[in-house]
Amino acid sequence: MPGLTAMMALAWAPSSSVNLRFGSGGGRKAASAMPLVKKSSSAHLLGRSRAWAATTAATAACDEQQPQTMELLRRLGEDGWVEEHMLSLLTPVAEAWQPADLLPAFAATAEEQRSQVAELQARAAGVPDDLLVCLVGNMVTEEGLPTYMTMANRVRGIDDATGCDGHGWARWLRGWTAEENRHGDALNRYLYLCGRVDMRQVERTVHHLLRGGMRTLEPSCPFHGFIYVAFQERATFVSHARTARRAALHGDACLAKLCGAVAADEKRHEAAYTRAVARCFEADPDAAVRALAAVMRAKVTMPGELMTDGRDENLFDHFAAVAQRVGLYTAADYGDMVEHFVRRWGVAELGGLSGEGRRAQDYVCGLPRKIRRMEQLAHDRTAQKEAQSVSFSWVFDRPVRLH
Ligand SMILES: [Fe+2]
Ligand SMILES: [Fe+2]
Repeated sequence: MPGLTAMMALAWAPSSSVNLRFGSGGGRKAASAMPLVKKSSSAHLLGRSRAWAATTAATAACDEQQPQTMELLRRLGEDGWVEEHMLSLLTPVAEAWQPADLLPAFAATAEEQRSQVAELQARAAGVPDDLLVCLVGNMVTEEGLPTYMTMANRVRGIDDATGCDGHGWARWLRGWTAEENRHGDALNRYLYLCGRVDMRQVERTVHHLLRGGMRTLEPSCPFHGFIYVAFQERATFVSHARTARRAALHGDACLAKLCGAVAADEKRHEAAYTRAVARCFEADPDAAVRALAAVMRAKVTMPGELMTDGRDENLFDHFAAVAQRVGLYTAADYGDMVEHFVRRWGVAELGGLSGEGRRAQDYVCGLPRKIRRMEQLAHDRTAQKEAQSVSFSWVFDRPVRLH
């Protein structure tokens, strides 16, 4: 998820430039990328508060079904469903990659250590600043993991009450967290060793993000959380996989391998949450489609949305704009992602829905077309603008083009 990045995100950003957002969060910016149409900040805030109100109403509707939903999920966690369909997707610890496998190991002689680091730095020298900025943004998002685990554990019915509960959901959450924890570690260590970024500024950004938290839907309806995270995992997979490809093109095989390993994890996580949502659709299609519409109306924003380095108030928007320009995560990806999940969960084929359920179904099924239209408009407007750059403290204040 994190990265949930670097992943999942797409919110209509409030900045003056095209923005990318990964599907999690609300507020200033987003974690998947999504071009935004320029709006005044007051208009943006108004729009966001309306979306929030709509989502809150949907959450309230979901709350009415809370007892049934909680009972369904509790059963899945105890009758072996989570174990069979989700825990089976986690990699056993003995077989899992660790950051030390992908970076200089420091197990050899001092001379060999120096040689390994020198080789890493030589390869990293060819990575352009825009890709570095995207990498840092993704890494910072991954480092927000304590927030994401805390958020996930607030969902009633599936929480890990003692911290070492034995039911399926608790084991999944801890196992997922353990796999995710390697992502921030691995990217952080690569960035530290490569010598290309201002680590103090990067670390300050992580510190700020953990203090700032993230804005998301109230975790009262588990369906919302599963849907959101399914989007996030897919967005982060896309972003890390493309970073890997670009790193390889620039001659950094170490970074390519590292991001490829992270992307493969995100893909498994996406599969797990996609199965969970599919099970929700199977058990209660009306509640599930309304939950999907609620998440979409609230905009899928990114988990790292509240990141700041203490200098740039629009840091996330700027990072997202660079990701969009570089093509690591774009508005088009968001449209594709909505279409993918609508198809995967058979939303268009659902029958026997309530009036509200049918309205949610129509809304969701029409969304990819709307997103693509917005994307085209944003693209046309951006094409008419003069190139704009901003300085990123992450790369020692060097300017990086936004569009
Ligand atoms: Fe993930
Ligand atoms: Fe991750």
